[in-house]
Amino acid sequence: MSDAITSPRIVVCGRIPAPAIDTLHTAGEVWAWDRDEVIPTDVRDWELATTDAAVTLLTDRVDAAFLDAAPRLRIVANVAVGYNNIDVAACRERGVVVTNTPGVLTDATADLAMALILMTTRRLGEGERLIRSGSAWQWGMFMMLGTGVQQRRLGIVGMGGIGTALARRARAFGMTIAYHNRSPISAEVAGELDAERLDLDELLATSDIVSLNCPYSEATHHLIDGRALRMMRDDAVLINTARGPVVDEAALVNALREGFIGGAGLDVYENEPEVHPGLLTLDNVVLLPHLGSATVETRTAMAQLAAHNVVEVLAGRAPISAV
Ligand code: GLV
Repeated sequence: MSDAITSPRIVVCGRIPAPAIDTLHTAGEVWAWDRDEVIPTDVRDWELATTDAAVTLLTDRVDAAFLDAAPRLRIVANVAVGYNNIDVAACRERGVVVTNTPGVLTDATADLAMALILMTTRRLGEGERLIRSGSAWQWGMFMMLGTGVQQRRLGIVGMGGIGTALARRARAFGMTIAYHNRSPISAEVAGELDAERLDLDELLATSDIVSLNCPYSEATHHLIDGRALRMMRDDAVLINTARGPVVDEAALVNALREGFIGGAGLDVYENEPEVHPGLLTLDNVVLLPHLGSATVETRTAMAQLAAHNVVEVLAGRAPISAV
């Protein structure tokens, strides 16, 4: 059979919601890895050899070896807004389109960042651990007192869609907003949020809570290092729902131990899924297993957006959300 009459082949490298698989079936023949663990390289490469499109998760590394195994590849559709797992330059060199899933996970991730702010400032992780420990307890006037967020300054590093959505939530909780971003946000949104744009050092030095909402790249690797942590107030809290390596995790453990900052709420880790053992011993830290976009609705929408990108590219049309 010639290529011209063979329907395109699509490889899905990890488990994704069923509606997205249905969408992919409209574009070609679908092969999907159906387990939660990362697809073994030999299985992946065997399937990639004859594939026109690959749907990937953030745990899949799309590098030269991946691309070498996939000579017919036309699109990598990543089911994530972050695409630091993909060598975009190598894809571009080979004419492979890369897409991500912006927008559809904005609310879920902003919700989770807000939840981490409340969990850390109100000591909710500690409270939960106390009950589960079975230890005796009783309501007490001075028991586990946290701090309110009202009138506190939230400093947002990376004021894209998620940062802006977090700012709206924080405003509803009575917080004031500062942000650090390469370019200023629109005057309209800045006015709505009463948000002040600061350079990073000033934001770190003056914020009660610092939330990382920037993409991970060489430019943001260890953006929050020992020096940055020392600039923060000693009662300030660091929230990271972006990518682990934006923070130097060893320096963070040291800052928390030494009391350079007051606490941290983390959804992502430098060497995910490993978590620095020092973090596990600290009470003033809330640790979540990368749940930013983990709602049924959001994951379904993300997978559907990736699937629709595949449909468009295989039909010879422009992708919806190319990176
Ligand atoms: C999740 O971390 C994403 O980048 O979508």
